Amino acid sequence: MLPSIVPIASDVYFIGAFDPKIRTFDIIMKTANGSSYNSYLIRGSEGVAVMDTVKKEFSEAFFARLERLCGYEEIRYIVLHHLEPDHSGALIELMARAPEARLIISGRAVMMLKALFKEDVPFEIANTGKSISLGNKTIDFLSTPFLHWPDTMSSYLREEKVLFSGDVFGSHYYDERLFDDQVGDFSYAFKYYYDRIMRPFKSYVLQALKLYEPLDIATIAPLHGPVLRTNPRYYLGKYAQWSSEAKFRKHEFGKKMLSVFYVSSYENTQAMAERITEGADSVAGIVASMYDLTSLEESNMIDLLEESDAIIVGSPTINGDAVKPAWDLLSCMCFLESTGKVGATFGSYGWTGEAPEMLHERLRGLKFRLPQPPLKIKLIPTPKELESCYMYGREIAEITMGKMVEMEL
Ligand code: FEO
Repeated sequence: MLPSIVPIASDVYFIGAFDPKIRTFDIIMKTANGSSYNSYLIRGSEGVAVMDTVKKEFSEAFFARLERLCGYEEIRYIVLHHLEPDHSGALIELMARAPEARLIISGRAVMMLKALFKEDVPFEIANTGKSISLGNKTIDFLSTPFLHWPDTMSSYLREEKVLFSGDVFGSHYYDERLFDDQVGDFSYAFKYYYDRIMRPFKSYVLQALKLYEPLDIATIAPLHGPVLRTNPRYYLGKYAQWSSEAKFRKHEFGKKMLSVFYVSSYENTQAMAERITEGADSVAGIVASMYDLTSLEESNMIDLLEESDAIIVGSPTINGDAVKPAWDLLSCMCFLESTGKVGATFGSYGWTGEAPEMLHERLRGLKFRLPQPPLKIKLIPTPKELESCYMYGREIAEITMGKMVEMEL
């Protein structure tokens, strides 16, 4: 059976592929509803543009749709908004079939093009301000880097008011009814996609939204999931909200947040956490809170890490390592922006006590500012040692409030 051809605007067609069976995407995402690799074809009075391709294994459906709409000799442009293989998988074959077509990529995509294809692929660069014409159709390019790779760009089909947004506004949600007003309720997938893919780059999301803002957008054509044609401003508004909202209220009260996360076997690291928190909280302008990592959900870890101005992580040392909940906490940073928060580590230990140093090194790798060496105490803290915990918390809090010290980066 021939694949369906679905117009998304006048002379603009969906030519992507559906992947209903995929259940994990890019290792970090669960895809209960499958996904799609969206690509589009624009027919103008002077030729055709192909907007992105698909994952290589899905090339057959892509080429079958494309061939129902045009001859390869008609293709003047191939636009790749993002070179990740789920969108560039059919590029080399398409260029072989359409040798006259000109490949358009962003400036930041050049190195990736070479790294991905290991051969000289001719290309032209597009940045904000560049446009291409298909006669009666004009495509304007917008530089929207780091959404979610450095190479990402968007484009806008002026006459039909279609925004080709790349991965931005995508959802891993397979539904061949295609349009947001016809598919099932994909709200969870839209939010989950933002959280997993775009949230680490939310400052870049806000920059992109500024470029999208003046556009009169009738349809958003993302690279995954439903095409968004019902009140596109709703989706822009959601991204704006999620990229700028505070999840905790302390900042509203003019306070900086310092979070002490700990794991404790025999309440020794917990005793340290309590005094560190008290010390930190004694500093004007700081609100300090402590969290037992063995009972903290991952989603709460992510929110707390994002909102905290400083984090202090404590773990005992077991078999020469920090314990898993502490590593799980720091692994959540892959969903967040690296912002130079203040960090510190501590822990009670029995023999060797490597955990605080190991966590300290991990924080360094995550680009935290590290003003103090790790604080380690052998087994049960003495009153004097607990006093040093209090002072440690105070010092980290004062630095968070702006006290100047020499700092590791
Ligand atoms: Fe859908 Fe970042 O590729």
